[in-house]
Amino acid sequence: MKFNLFEEMRKRVLMQIDTADSVKALHEIRVAVLGKAGELTQSLKSLKDLPESDRPAAGKFINDIRAEIEGAFGQKQAAFDAAELSHRLASEKIDITICKPDRPRGGLHPLNQTRQRIADFFVSMGFTVADSPEIETDYYNFEALNIPSDHPAREMQDTFFITENILLRSQTSSGQIRLMEKIKPPIKMISPGRVYRADDVDATHSPMFHQMEGLVVDKNITMCDLKGILDLFAKQFFGAATKTRFRPSYFPFTEPSVEVDASCYICGGTPKADGCRVCKGGGWIEILGAGIVNRKVLQNCGIDADVYSGFAFGMGLDRITNILHGISDLRVVFENDIRFLKQFR
Ligand code: DAH
Repeated sequence: MKFNLFEEMRKRVLMQIDTADSVKALHEIRVAVLGKAGELTQSLKSLKDLPESDRPAAGKFINDIRAEIEGAFGQKQAAFDAAELSHRLASEKIDITICKPDRPRGGLHPLNQTRQRIADFFVSMGFTVADSPEIETDYYNFEALNIPSDHPAREMQDTFFITENILLRSQTSSGQIRLMEKIKPPIKMISPGRVYRADDVDATHSPMFHQMEGLVVDKNITMCDLKGILDLFAKQFFGAATKTRFRPSYFPFTEPSVEVDASCYICGGTPKADGCRVCKGGGWIEILGAGIVNRKVLQNCGIDADVYSGFAFGMGLDRITNILHGISDLRVVFENDIRFLKQFR
């Protein structure tokens, strides 16, 4: 048989392809057989050495073998590809039903949560949020707020002075002046921030704490507007059944001035015989100071007090946070012990 040699090659190569154990091995066989210097390529070239009469049959024979071998290569490659794919599908599979251990997740500090909740309410009522400096001059913190240097109210707020004239603000009320100097009425703003007083640390005092100031100045602003908005605020913050109570008070920058209480959100004003941990049995919780902006303060800011009037309020964010969460010691709010903070995620 003339083509025995080719037949032997065919069987051998098909066997090699069949037993190739990797893509790399398959590739090497392909190069050795079908490459430029490959066995089959060379065989085709050697056809020219055959007698003229044998060439067509030999050529057809070799080309048939070539087609068969190429087909075998293709099949083997496809088998490797399929195996690779199923391996990847198996190894990259994600079980979305599996229960993973809880990943530690951060959260907002309780004070930030309070600030945001309160700000959200006032922003929904059309207030804007303003910032104002923590390092202030005597003028903005006291003088312009109708607290001259000999005023007894200064003693109520033991202030950190940096120089004779520069201080750490003791109240966010300084922001009222800054704003009224910049913007003409109508004004509707809140201004949250840090304030400082030279107090020793104990369960209810800290040299640094947080306030939120509110200021509305427009034509015809009255105590009714103040009462309306603060009542709505208390209801939204402490619950729909909350009532508010205004008690006469005194602040130099408001006239008249009030202190505002909300009915206790725990006992609703009727504490049980063993008392109430939040209102201590009184039924009311003091939430802020407020009043009608003193004419002198408007005038200090160049606002015509015969045309415009306003109300202002200021609340302690730390205090409100403590009331809300039943925290009895202010220190835990500032110490940032992770075991405490975790409760507020
Ligand atoms: N600034 C006052 C304080 O720190 C709180 C306050 C009371 C702010 C009455 C006001 C207000 O705007 O009208 O004790």
